[in-house]
Order: sequence, then C-alpha cells, then structure tokens
Amino acid sequence: MSRAASPKKARGIVLLGPPGAGKGTQAALLAKELELKHISTGEILREEVERGTELGRKAKAYMDRGELVPDELVIAMLRGRLDSGSGFILDGFPRTLNQAEALERMVRLDRVLNIHLSEEEVVRRLSARRVCKSCGRNYNLISNPPKVEGRCDSCGGELFQRDDDKPEVIRRRYRVYQEETAPLKDFYRERGLLVEVEGDRPIEELFQEVLEVLR
Ligand code: AP5
Repeated sequence: MSRAASPKKARGIVLLGPPGAGKGTQAALLAKELELKHISTGEILREEVERGTELGRKAKAYMDRGELVPDELVIAMLRGRLDSGSGFILDGFPRTLNQAEALERMVRLDRVLNIHLSEEEVVRRLSARRVCKSCGRNYNLISNPPKVEGRCDSCGGELFQRDDDKPEVIRRRYRVYQEETAPLKDFYRERGLLVEVEGDRPIEELFQEVLEVLR
C-alpha cells in the first residue's frame, strides 16, 4: 500500500541582530536577489495594529514599550505563513528560545545570519529612521535621506517616525534584545548554522558581504 509522502518542510534563512542592525534592509535586498519570500514579524504586527485586529490590540502595548509580544501570539501568527515549498527569509523571528524551538519544528533552516551593531550606533540610526506611510519603504535622515524632505522617493507618500523609534524605547528594545535574543547566537552556533557580519558599513557593501557569507 502506498503512503502519502510527508509534507516537505519549507526552507529558509533567519536574520538575527539588534534593532536597527539592518535586518529589514538586507532582507529586502536578499529576497529580491535570491527570489525568496520576505517575512518580517515586526511588519506583520504593525499591520495588525493598523487594522485594529484582536492580535493588533494585544500586541500594541508591548510594542510601544519596546518589549516582545508573547511567544504564543507570535508563533501562532507565523504558522500558516511558512507555506512549504517556497523559500523564505525570516526577519525578526525567532527572538526567544521558545520561538527558535518552535521554528525548528516547522521549517528547515539553511543559514542564520547575525548582523552585529553597537548600542550607540543602534540609537543613532533608529532615531533618524523614517518610513513611508503608503509603501513602507525605509529611509534614514543620516545615511539614506529621501530626495524631497518628508516624501517617499518611490511613491510620494508621507514619511513618519515609528512610535518605538524614540530614544528611550530604542534603548529598552536593545536591552530586551541582549537578554532574550542574543543567546540565540549560541543556539544556532551549536547547530552549525550561524554566520556573522559587522553591520556598521554602507548598505551595498554590507549586502555584498552578506551574499558572500551566505554562499
Ligand atoms: P521589528 O520591526 O522587527 O523591529 P527591530 O528588530 O527592532 O528591527 P528594526 O526594524 O528596528 O531594525 P532592522 O534591523 O530591521 O533595521 P532596518 O533595516 O529597518 O519589531 C518591532 C517590535 O515588534 C518589537 O519590538 C516587538 O515588540 C515586536 N516583535 C516583532 N517580532 C517579534 C517576535 N518575533 N517576537 C516578539 N515580538 C516581536 O534599518 C534601520 C535604519 O537604519 C533605517 O533607517 C535604515 O535605512 C538604516 N540602515 C539600514 N542599514 C544601514 C546601513 N548599513 N548603514 C546605515 N544605515 C542603515
């Protein structure tokens, strides 16, 4: 009697690193270059908040304080989005040991890339970040400003500052990262999956190194 093959696990790359390290920027470039699906849990959560869903209402208070949204909410949100067969880049997940263990049961990872950035550079960068309200494109008033002040180069949309990009919340996010997420480097090092790059360099230069270490 023939048995149905067990469903193939989806494959992916995880991007780790402190807030502002450039995970979202590099993930977008990688997704385009390698034709992978870009999954950002921060982005999905912000959309849920915007739409006023039950998950969004629960998540908002944690996000505004710079704390992590509880594991069970984020894991449930992610499940279903990791459709098997298609490759993906995970940006902002996992962030706790619980999440990493759940992910291990759901997918097969090819690589985990950690982008390092110092706390001072994190605060400097994120205080200068602006995001387009319409298309979500990211800018930085220091390193990557828009051509016209306050307007998106791509779609002309209005640029805004994220609620959690205020200096005191940024520092809180950085502490949460150190306590909850940085230990995942050891978790993935033990599994032979971790590769690391220094994030304090121009976007395109960093991208070339990222491609190199992922090869
Ligand atoms: P999330 O949106 O994931 O925020 P984050 O991890 O803090 O990351 P950021 O988006 O701030 O930074 P990034 O590393 O992506 O850098 P980016 O490329 O944007 O999460 C937000 C919140 O949601 C969390 O605090 C938490 O509450 C919740 N959440 C999300 N996922 C969760 C999970 N799994 N579990 C529980 N809670 C979760 O770049 C930043 C800036 O720098 C931009 O202005 C950019 O233009 C600029 N820049 C990028 N690269 C460079 C470079 N090389 N040089 C100079 N400038 C650069």
